[in-house]
Amino acid sequence: MRRRLAADARRLDLAGLAERHGTPLLVLDADRVTAQLLELRRRLPGVELHVALAALPHPALIRAVDAFGASFDVASRAELDLLEHEGVAIRRCVHTHPVTSIAELTSAYLRGIRTFVVDDPAEVDEFDGLPPDARVLVRLSFPNPDAASDLSSTFGVPPEQASALVAHCLAAGRPVAGFTFHVGSQTTSAEPWRRAIRRTLKLMHELEGRFGTTFDTLDIGGGFPVAYDEPVPALAEIADGIREALASAPARYRVIAEPGRFVAAPAMTLVTRVIGSEDRADGRWVHLDDGVYGAYSNIPAEGVRPLVFAASELADRPVTDEDAERAVRRLRERSSEPVTLAGPTDDGVDVVARGLRLPRLGVGDLLVSPMMGAYTWAPATRFDGIEPAAVHALSGAGLRAST
Ligand SMILES: Cc1ncc(COP(=O)(O)O)c(C=O)c1O
Repeated sequence: MRRRLAADARRLDLAGLAERHGTPLLVLDADRVTAQLLELRRRLPGVELHVALAALPHPALIRAVDAFGASFDVASRAELDLLEHEGVAIRRCVHTHPVTSIAELTSAYLRGIRTFVVDDPAEVDEFDGLPPDARVLVRLSFPNPDAASDLSSTFGVPPEQASALVAHCLAAGRPVAGFTFHVGSQTTSAEPWRRAIRRTLKLMHELEGRFGTTFDTLDIGGGFPVAYDEPVPALAEIADGIREALASAPARYRVIAEPGRFVAAPAMTLVTRVIGSEDRADGRWVHLDDGVYGAYSNIPAEGVRPLVFAASELADRPVTDEDAERAVRRLRERSSEPVTLAGPTDDGVDVVARGLRLPRLGVGDLLVSPMMGAYTWAPATRFDGIEPAAVHALSGAGLRAST
């Protein structure tokens, strides 16, 4: 990862961008969005991609996804505003928040959304005033406590209760297009998808027989993982399991996926600056101009452990062989010290990392974290009056800038 990031740091001129635009700075490389979508399309051919805008609701990501020909999964009116502003065809998008006010449902319908998600009879009743071309997917819950964020603990009905909800929809005259689930964000094995797909396909078959209806959509959600401080299985491995489970799906089913993290995380790199340091009883503390109330909110919210490098570590030319790499690593270890990296606020929980070995850092030095595109900028707060990191979007070969 260090080698790749070093190459990126040079290619994108992270230090130059930080000088020109200030820090903290999130550098968004839209080419990475396209590369991730290509990988998904290659590994999951025939699966319609609806990128979860919640991960990174930024115009540069929207433009890259739209230009690729993929669509979006939206959860709010504000996300629809963003998509409309970029000229996205709203009719192709899916609205996946199962708890939505009547006003929001109506507004989404009027703007073009035709596929919604429900997981409760009361929610179905909120569709009463909408024409029958507003169809619903029933959200199922498949608990996955191993995931970074187990969305099934909040949303979805257990498969055993799905029949009653479908009956309620049909009695209310609300067409059911099919089913959806989310196996949990940052799921690191194909098994949860395999189990969920098989169970859902079985359920769809049973309910089609029971209600004399036909479904046409299976939405396998998001959850595709990225490597933060530890490797994760390649998408190829996870996709093999998914394709195997999908093999028994009727050909008439449209299969949808809603990747968020996988598309957004690799597209943004965070550059921060040291604003102070102290030697304390428990060792050296280094304070950055961003922390867990900003882009590093993924640390407390999701248990992510982002990699953090001193920009100076990335400046040296890449070594050519294994022995040289080991020698450089030994040298670096000798000249480094364990530090506690803290954010800029006055809050005790604003700690980014403890015991992290870094070269001696002084005020003004730059640090770099890769994989900071997903659920970082979007949930950042203004705690202590500190503005979230600015996003600087690159396009083309990472050389032309846009905002
Ligand atoms: C309904 C839905 N779909 C997709 C996603 C994207 O998930 P991930 O980022 O794990 O791919 C989310 C994330 O919150 C979601 O709630």
